[in-house]
Amino acid sequence: MKPTGWFQVAWADEIGIGDIHTMKYFDQEMVAWRAESGQITVMNAYCEHLGAHLGYGGTVHGEVLQCPFHGWQWNQQGRNVCIPYEDRPNRGRRIKTYPVVERNESVYIWHDIENREPFFEAPDIFADFGDTRGAGDYYPQQRLFQQGLEMHPQYVLENGVDFAHFKYVHQTPIVPVFTRHDFDDPVSYVDFTITFEGDDGQKIEDINSGVEAINGGLGIAVTKSWGMIDNRTISAITPVDESTSDVRFMVYIGRPPAGSAKDPARAEAKARDFGAEVIRQFSQDIHIWAHQRYSDPPALASSELEGFTAIRKWALKFYPDGKGGSAAELAARSAH
Ligand code: FES
Ligand SMILES: [Fe+2]
Repeated sequence: MKPTGWFQVAWADEIGIGDIHTMKYFDQEMVAWRAESGQITVMNAYCEHLGAHLGYGGTVHGEVLQCPFHGWQWNQQGRNVCIPYEDRPNRGRRIKTYPVVERNESVYIWHDIENREPFFEAPDIFADFGDTRGAGDYYPQQRLFQQGLEMHPQYVLENGVDFAHFKYVHQTPIVPVFTRHDFDDPVSYVDFTITFEGDDGQKIEDINSGVEAINGGLGIAVTKSWGMIDNRTISAITPVDESTSDVRFMVYIGRPPAGSAKDPARAEAKARDFGAEVIRQFSQDIHIWAHQRYSDPPALASSELEGFTAIRKWALKFYPDGKGGSAAELAARSAH
């Protein structure tokens, strides 16, 4: 439960200017706070002075966070910059901070128990698909948040190569076919042809719709659909402790081209219903994952061998125990 990578810890709109947001991830109490300038900082929650929890009574002053206990102030690098009753700050002590990005309304932190700098980027649901559509082309994001589920982030990633479950969990009429498995880098790509329409007599060759997925490590996956109702999703799974994770799932439904909807309110209501349906489908997966036991080695059908072997080999690279090498080396290699 201590993989390396980007993981969602909050939504950006949960943390306004001057707010301090308290949370627990990777077995650490953490706070996220937003300075006057808008800059967000995520750091461990305990003051290095006498250990007060900064999330309980701490206050943001301009660009620093002030401890509620004795007023020591900490900056965005976790450094002490003021002891109000001394001439100089304590330059030696530092509260651990995490690299943080705000992207697609999420707050992602980089977690690495070896404290390396980020060696890949958190995926962007708009920019990374190489088209021109952005947030403005979609209705507001719809969200699911489930806390403290007994599951591991890797389960969710494996879902992306698991063609057989679509028919049973999501009631697709036929089994999807994968057209791309690219697990060479810390950011991996999976594309497949899928339909939710029609009956089981259709042939995969005749289907003109599909999903493209980008996995940014084990913590974040973004998808874009084509040939069906325009939707994009983000799934983000973040370990809380040794056995549980928080699950966040976000859906964007495409807006009709400007001026083309006869009844914009109705179009939006329909989009919301469809978004709710996409979320419902994801909840069906969660129901399985939350009770799943990781099977290793799994009993794979021969058609499953390639996808699962590739994704599990790739996943190993994000664990710090050295098994299977490290994603950092991989990133360095592919940069050449
Ligand atoms: S415990 Fe934070 S200032 Fe004393
Ligand atoms: Fe699924």
